[in-house]
Amino acid sequence: MPPRKIIIDTDPGQDDAAAIMLALASPELDVLGITAVAGNVPLALTARNAGMISEICGRGDVAVFAGADRPLQRKLVTAEHVHGKTGLDGVEPFEPARPLEPMHAVDFIIETLREHPAGDVTLCALGPLTNIATVIERAPGVVPKIREIVLMGGGFFEGGNITPSAEFNIYVDPEAARIVFNSGAPITMMPLDVTHKVLTTRSRVERLRANGNRPSLVMADMLEFFERYDEHKYGTDGGPLHDPTVVAWLIDPGMFDGRRSNVEIETGSDLTLGATVVDWWKVTGRPENAFVVRNVDADRFFDLFIDRVGRL
Ligand code: BDR
Ligand code: CA
Repeated sequence: MPPRKIIIDTDPGQDDAAAIMLALASPELDVLGITAVAGNVPLALTARNAGMISEICGRGDVAVFAGADRPLQRKLVTAEHVHGKTGLDGVEPFEPARPLEPMHAVDFIIETLREHPAGDVTLCALGPLTNIATVIERAPGVVPKIREIVLMGGGFFEGGNITPSAEFNIYVDPEAARIVFNSGAPITMMPLDVTHKVLTTRSRVERLRANGNRPSLVMADMLEFFERYDEHKYGTDGGPLHDPTVVAWLIDPGMFDGRRSNVEIETGSDLTLGATVVDWWKVTGRPENAFVVRNVDADRFFDLFIDRVGRL
């Protein structure tokens, strides 16, 4: 089978970096480009970080496009308290050799979808959904060409991580999330309910470090910074590694399970802004608009992740 063509839309973020590494290390996937969005840190940093990670993977040839620098209607909320001030604390920052592409991320996504046959290109969304929502609003004609949008966002049984009821990516731009969930594109959702099961335990990080190649060492250093905040917050051995679940889904969906459900996004309430209301028990009769993942075989996930990053 030819590799599956993907665009990674991202706000790196150590866990975004882990997702980019897994994608670049996997022969099943062909990364057409990386599009940056403001989220964990402002856009200038997420765009630089995407280039840095590609270069660390020996893939300085991957094109990086900068996109939205703020949510559709709100002020940007960032997460330096989780990721550090560069977004990738744990690794020494540097300017990537390959400059950013001059084209805007949204234009790149639209053009790429137009150029490819329907059902060819998958969008992997690892940050606030501002870029993807802008694509849908600006060029609704490309929506039927999207093979799948696989996104990390939301939380239902687990609640939220930035407020008691909202997960960060959806909270930052709930209006964008609503546009995406109402778009009619096939959506697979990786909420906190699944990512909280993917823990960077000490022994897993040691196994990664034992690979000995530069990407594994960099990733182990970053994870040791990243998990500090979450270990304290959740009282777990290691923290959740959210975003690479999106990429793992494309490589080995058999390690996950979930069900098709209706998902609606709260945009009105101060108390529950950005909540993802999942009709898991099908009590509303509202149409199913996403495949919502709830469980993962975490050992199988880390076997894949550690093996692949070790090959870079
Ligand atoms: C999500 O928010 C970000 O901080 C992470 O990179 C991940 O995409 C988890 O809530
Ligand atoms: Ca992210």
